[in-house]
Amino acid sequence: MHKRIFWRSLRLLLVVALCLGALATAGAVGRNEVPVRPEAMPVADVPSEETSPAPTQEEIRAAEEEAKAASARQRRASGLLARRGGLTGQQREVLCTRMGADEVLLQRLERGELTRTELTWLGIPNARADRLDRYDAWAAEYPEDSPETTVLQVNLDMDQDFYSLIWETADPASLEVLVNKHYALPAGYVPELEALGKGYGSGSLRPEAAQAFRAMADGARADGVSLRSVSAYRSYKQQNSTYHRYLKQYKQTTVDTFSARPGHSEHQTGLSLDINVASTRAHFENTAAFAWLKEHCAEYGFILRYDKGKEAITGYRFEPWHYRYVGQEIAKTCMDQGISYEEYLSLRPTVN
Ligand code: DAL
Ligand code: ZN
Repeated sequence: MHKRIFWRSLRLLLVVALCLGALATAGAVGRNEVPVRPEAMPVADVPSEETSPAPTQEEIRAAEEEAKAASARQRRASGLLARRGGLTGQQREVLCTRMGADEVLLQRLERGELTRTELTWLGIPNARADRLDRYDAWAAEYPEDSPETTVLQVNLDMDQDFYSLIWETADPASLEVLVNKHYALPAGYVPELEALGKGYGSGSLRPEAAQAFRAMADGARADGVSLRSVSAYRSYKQQNSTYHRYLKQYKQTTVDTFSARPGHSEHQTGLSLDINVASTRAHFENTAAFAWLKEHCAEYGFILRYDKGKEAITGYRFEPWHYRYVGQEIAKTCMDQGISYEEYLSLRPTVN
């Protein structure tokens, strides 16, 4: 009972703090670009009663102090921005929230270091403060693109050729980790793994993904559809030999359209697997299993990772058999909106 009241009070406190804009954490803001990839924005979360220990009085006091400080920073930003013309109400609002969460950015504003163009970028909710130079460069090359398009294209790393500039992912164990032709896992990274078990095909996945796959396969079976893993977790070494085996058969530009270079395969995260087949010739897209997966995979937290029409973004040809666990909420957004994981992360606001 006391615990419930306590949590209600804490939630109320957090809501008030949010209203003050104090919990705007602006994940990518103010970080350096190279060499570590800025991970996607961590979302401010209300702790769950079941999993999180209650915060101490000291932590609550610190949160209150931070809320006040953020609010004060927002007021400073608001005063300075009032004197700058050419900004819309929405841009001002986003800018104030950013500055509230980012003292360094606010100081740059106070020193008059932020140009009008930079304020335009920073006034876009999904802009990343550490990519301003790249937005400028894109805008110079594609002046016809709107600021929103410019931000999206650069967030998608469309200004970098695949494998030209590689960031090592900052948090390989995150369930939201992005691994592609721009972002690599550390070579020695090995996730915690769990065998999928009898009746679910071969291999192992991270426990969250293994459990979700078994639930998905059970759900499919109830609808008369059989789903089995044919390839799940792969180590760096395995991916290395797979990729190099293909290189003996095909030229590299071809191999790169269907096989990831070692360090860059989602299979190394333990969150991805190939279901039933792993070959274009099998035409998995014409099967009842594929139709079922397209309709239901998000309910279990999986996304179709390399869809048709997204080749320029993902760098891979259509792989109807490859699914990635990201959790139900993100999976539903991606599958309902028909967007790739790269687009989801690139569109996600960095201010909240
Ligand atoms: N076939 C996918 C892209 C991989 O090699 O990870
Ligand atoms: Zn795969």
